[in-house]
Amino acid sequence: MKTVFVINGPNLNMLGKREPGIYGGKTLDEIGKDCQAAGKALGLEVDFRQSNHEGDLVSWIQEAGEKAVGVVINPGAYGHTSIAIHDAIRSVAPLPVAEVHLSNIHAREPFRHVSMVAPVATGMICGFGPLGYELALRALAARL
Ligand code: DQA
Repeated sequence: MKTVFVINGPNLNMLGKREPGIYGGKTLDEIGKDCQAAGKALGLEVDFRQSNHEGDLVSWIQEAGEKAVGVVINPGAYGHTSIAIHDAIRSVAPLPVAEVHLSNIHAREPFRHVSMVAPVATGMICGFGPLGYELALRALAARL
């Protein structure tokens, strides 16, 4: 079966208790289960991961270049700062990459308006909460 890596960055392990007014009440574990179910319906195996460490995200993108047909990434705050993640995505081109943010980063503080990932991603979904992950999986599946 074709595999999609769903990669989550820093502080997303705190979902459920972290600023629920912004990020909602679902835990990352629950989002992972929803992704597995959505993947199954699309004929995709979902490899769902989270790390608070930038280097892990870089290594997983590189690994996806070997093993996956696409990547869904919520880079968390590293999305706004990480040239290393930007470069990692470029290094696995033309692997399709969907950037996801639960919140609408453009409706928040100015420092969240910039994404280092967006210029090298296939597309970006933000502001639709956990549904964004499922939409991203569907968008990737439509390209395969
Ligand atoms: C986030 C948005 C980021 O600005 C923030 O740093 C996060 C979560 C989101 O999913 O809305 O950690 O990526």
